[in-house]
Amino acid sequence: MTMTNVSPFTQEDNAILDRILESRRSVRLFAPDVPSKEHILKIIRAGLLAPYAAQAVSGQDFRQFFVFQKGSPKLAELAALAKRHVKRMAEQLYKELAANPSLKEKGTGFVKRLEQLEETGVPGIGTAPYFIVVAERRGIPPAEQQSLAHCLENMWLKATALGLGFQLVSVTAQMGQDSEFCSVLGIPHGEFGTNGCAIGYPVERLPPVERPDASAVTKWID
Ligand SMILES: Cc1cc2nc3c(=O)[nH]c(=O)nc-3n(C[C@H](O)[C@H](O)[C@H](O)COP(=O)(O)O)c2cc1C
Repeated sequence: MTMTNVSPFTQEDNAILDRILESRRSVRLFAPDVPSKEHILKIIRAGLLAPYAAQAVSGQDFRQFFVFQKGSPKLAELAALAKRHVKRMAEQLYKELAANPSLKEKGTGFVKRLEQLEETGVPGIGTAPYFIVVAERRGIPPAEQQSLAHCLENMWLKATALGLGFQLVSVTAQMGQDSEFCSVLGIPHGEFGTNGCAIGYPVERLPPVERPDASAVTKWID
């Protein structure tokens, strides 16, 4: 066996990693307690460690983080903007479904969900102690949403390891196309893709994830 075949990590390290992976859950109810800025910076550091599309973008400023705290005027501005945004999304989708009846069955449920969010607000924007937007520079070819997914998964796992709850707020991806949203962040419109998450302490600890057995969903192809 060569040295490169020997893992630098122990079985114990792996057991801890597995425990964190299995404990990662979508948390949608947050306690009012505010996690420390130190914890938030550790989560952001984990996000920075995630891969990025180095062939598509150049420079070190490929990824930026924007932290909004519950109760801040700018977060209230974003929450209102998100409501207007889901309203526009619902109207547009409604028109598309009317023009293409074959999509109607699949899309109607989603239109209804958007209309509901227009009333209640978007969960995660103002419902947790922190709402964090991540912006990733759009390159050629565009791969910013894939990079953001890696970044957010790293942040999610680190939040889990710190005992914090995490919720993806995927409407942040569509909001990235909105010039008003970009101006709140202070980024040039059209140059970045965005996505976001809410972070805080969970009201209750959720059970570990349940997924099928790996062998049940794997084909070994010769
Ligand atoms: C692309 C993507 C978008 C998602 N968007 C949201 C979202 O906007 N809000 C939310 O609460 N959960 C969102 N989720 C979380 C999923 O609903 C969740 O991962 C799934 O129900 C499994 O639950 P678990 O995360 O607890 O394992 C999203 C997940 C993915 C992969």
